[in-house]
Amino acid sequence: MRKILIAGNWKMHKTQAEAEQFLQAFLPELEKTDKERGVILCPTFTSLDVMSKNLHGSLVRLGSQNIHWEDSGAYTGEISGAMLLELSVSYAIVGHSERRQYFGETDETVNLRLKAAQKHGITPILCVGESKAQRDNGETEKVISAQIEKDLVDVDQTQLVIAYEPIWAIGTGDTCGSVEANRVIGLIRSQLSNPDVPIQYGGSVKPNNIDEIMAQSEIDGALVGGASLDPAGFARIVNYQ
Ligand code: G3P
Repeated sequence: MRKILIAGNWKMHKTQAEAEQFLQAFLPELEKTDKERGVILCPTFTSLDVMSKNLHGSLVRLGSQNIHWEDSGAYTGEISGAMLLELSVSYAIVGHSERRQYFGETDETVNLRLKAAQKHGITPILCVGESKAQRDNGETEKVISAQIEKDLVDVDQTQLVIAYEPIWAIGTGDTCGSVEANRVIGLIRSQLSNPDVPIQYGGSVKPNNIDEIMAQSEIDGALVGGASLDPAGFARIVNYQ
């Protein structure tokens, strides 16, 4: 039975005070949430501590937006798994397209980060997705298949989440159609040794499209960007019908 996971990727948004204000409005909305659903919030590193202190007993688990493969060292700007564990982090986003695009993330470094997360008992959320040009050229399947093959070398698929995030749908409001997202996620699943890996969809998920997305048989949740910044909107997504 695959776990349903709805995650919010806050990217570079919210101060500690804003994160606390978010939780004050968001947590009461979870009273009506199906307790079988997993809810994950991935704030910036600076808000992890204050949020962990406000989440005891709630459905919400914390995720980071990155994790380094070494436990310590001369890696300016990076954070290790050991440091994240002190901040009660249970998940880590790895290989987000923005990190691949802006920060030189490669399939090789993604693989190192995936394995480092698992070494610390942190479940990685591996992001894969194609660009608009790759989709227009009919290369979606080839691109996604190559990412899955290269990124998952020697990765334990029993401690893994995957997010299919077509790059052209991120932040654009141009959501991938739910049937097409379901098709691609089905292809991803067919390439895995563990068919029970939860696979999320990400890319302009909103309160007005979550119900249709979650009605698809292959989709096990969502990785939400912009819409996760608003407590009421993200609560509606978490409490999809
Ligand atoms: O990681 C989730 C993010 O890339 C999706 O962003 O704003 O399109 O929901 P957004």
